[in-house]
Amino acid sequence: MAGPRLTGRDRLRRAVTALAITAVLVAALGWFAPASAVLWIKAFHVIAVISWMAGMLYLPRLFVYHCAAAPGSESSETFKTMEARLLEYIVNPAMIVTWALGLWLAWTSFRFQGGWLHAKIGLVFLLSGVHGYFAGATRAFAEDRNIRSARHWRLMNEAPTLIMIAVVILVIVKPF
Ligand code: HEM
Repeated sequence: MAGPRLTGRDRLRRAVTALAITAVLVAALGWFAPASAVLWIKAFHVIAVISWMAGMLYLPRLFVYHCAAAPGSESSETFKTMEARLLEYIVNPAMIVTWALGLWLAWTSFRFQGGWLHAKIGLVFLLSGVHGYFAGATRAFAEDRNIRSARHWRLMNEAPTLIMIAVVILVIVKPF
């Protein structure tokens, strides 16, 4: 039930594939529609952000429910499959695309200038750290060695929410 276990090489291959597809799309847009490319890239950036955040909010909820399932039980094995698939098919690729398109926008439109942009990138580093923490937890749950409580995962659910609120205010309001 736990699904195929991916090796480090598989993960690297997927990351490189996601980046390559993104690079080809960005190049094609710049070539065929130079004037509206920024708007198209921004649209795909926001789509990737929504996918990333959906997964980052759902994963810790799954961990909360997983804590209540006895190791080896059918529901525990189902949670393992759900967590692994969510991470590998949605959360990881969405993070890569968000970063790639966000950096493209930051360079093309702002030449990496602006306090709001620097603060935003700092917070996205933090969000990526939380992402890494959730990926480690997914592995720990898959190997039945999670030691954290449901309360811990309920609290961790707030971390991506708070970061996301700050990031969206920074990019829309640009207060500094
Ligand atoms: C390091 C990664 C990221 C970089 C470098 C980046 C950079 C950018 C840039 C330069 C823009 C265009 C802003 C404008 O034209 O005024 C943008 C748009 C946007 N970004 Fe990001 N971004 C990143 C990640 C994120 C994340 C994680 C979120 C949300 C949690 C996010 C949410 C948005 C939104 C909502 C917009 C549209 C704002 C508008 O209406 O123009 N970005 N991003």
